Amino acid sequence: KNAVLPILAACLLGEGPCELENCPEIKDVEDTLHILRKLGCQVNQSGKTVRIDAETAAGYEIIGGEAARIRSSVLFLGALLGKMRKAVLPKPGGCAIGKRPIDLHLAALERLGAAFSCEGEAITAEGNRLHCGTIRLGLPSVGATENSILAAVLLPGETRIEHAAQEPEIDELIRFLNLRGGKLQRMGDAIVIEGGRCLHPVRFRIASDRIVAGTYLFAAAAAGGELHLQNYAADQTLAGVLLQMGGICRADHLGGMHFQMKHRPKALPGIRTAPYPGFPTDIQSPFMTYLATVEGSSTVIETVFENRFMHVAQLNKMGASIEAMGNKAVIRGNAKLRGCQVMATDLRAGAALVLAGLVAEGETEISEIYHIERGYEKFIEKFEKLGASITKI
Ligand code: EPZ
Repeated sequence: KNAVLPILAACLLGEGPCELENCPEIKDVEDTLHILRKLGCQVNQSGKTVRIDAETAAGYEIIGGEAARIRSSVLFLGALLGKMRKAVLPKPGGCAIGKRPIDLHLAALERLGAAFSCEGEAITAEGNRLHCGTIRLGLPSVGATENSILAAVLLPGETRIEHAAQEPEIDELIRFLNLRGGKLQRMGDAIVIEGGRCLHPVRFRIASDRIVAGTYLFAAAAAGGELHLQNYAADQTLAGVLLQMGGICRADHLGGMHFQMKHRPKALPGIRTAPYPGFPTDIQSPFMTYLATVEGSSTVIETVFENRFMHVAQLNKMGASIEAMGNKAVIRGNAKLRGCQVMATDLRAGAALVLAGLVAEGETEISEIYHIERGYEKFIEKFEKLGASITKI
């Protein structure tokens, strides 16, 4: 999810058509393709291959509907400024996990000469004096880094983004743009862009999702057993955590990974989420389900979002013993979870509840599963394949 969304926005730039393979069939992608169509792109989808031709795209307004629903529509700010020198977007609402402002995005784009005004629920961006320049991000925001890249890649001259986010999804965006003829590279904590080069069409395969992989691995760790992941995007941080948990990871020769929960699962005394390469905030909630059920107590400190413990109350309802105070949660461990009615509050909290349902005694019913379907492709079929008894009502 988090690799394909900025790449879809980048398909607005340069000459089309671009073909994306292994495009996940998830709601956020469906909504983003709808936005591209509304901007005038030709979009064809067959299975997991999507073809986008932006040659005829002349729109620059994406208000209402999908754009207001998904936060990642903010990435059209940079792409539309880069292509149209103008953009009108809905003011991004926060979501369950935090306010999620875009002050860093606006400050970064202002460094390139963009000007913003707000009327009611819409933000208007003017970019007729857009120029290359140096951006220094207050914190390594993934979205602000991506928006800066999207706005700068067509601007003649050198743009530097300092204190840029290091997430692998940004490396995928850089790889996509370089394959199209761009010239972007990481230099220490900066990304240097030689802008203004022509971007030609390309056929590109979207990398597999490291957070989805981690979610299935934590499911095997929590429920016990083993699983084989095909085209697994090895994530060093995750591999290290799985080993500390007592898991055995064996890479196969086809780019897959075999995982087995051989030994008695162990808790990890203290986890602190952080921007990459730290422990990913997106995997914190599924990990907490694991911690709730294994021997030993542990603490989780969430440093990226201000309200990402919405799953705690739901897990406690199932019998976990977790105490959340501010951005710190203390998990007592060794809980015997019991199935009951719970509610998904956001994408990853929903995933944590599926894992809890796999481990709990009895039946668990999870409502609001549209949150999970935003970012987990065919998760019900995949868990069934792993032996889970799971159905969508
Ligand atoms: C991206 O969100 C991901 N979304 C998130 O994944 C992920 O959790 C996050 O990066 C961190 O890794 C996509 O890639 C589509 P940020 P983003 O800007 O770009 C604050 C998921 O579950 N901030 O790095 O919004 C912000 O409030 C989703 O797949 C500002 O204060 O993350 C947050 O506390 C959830 N001002 C922190 O920085 C800004 O202008 C990190 O946000 C921007 C961000």
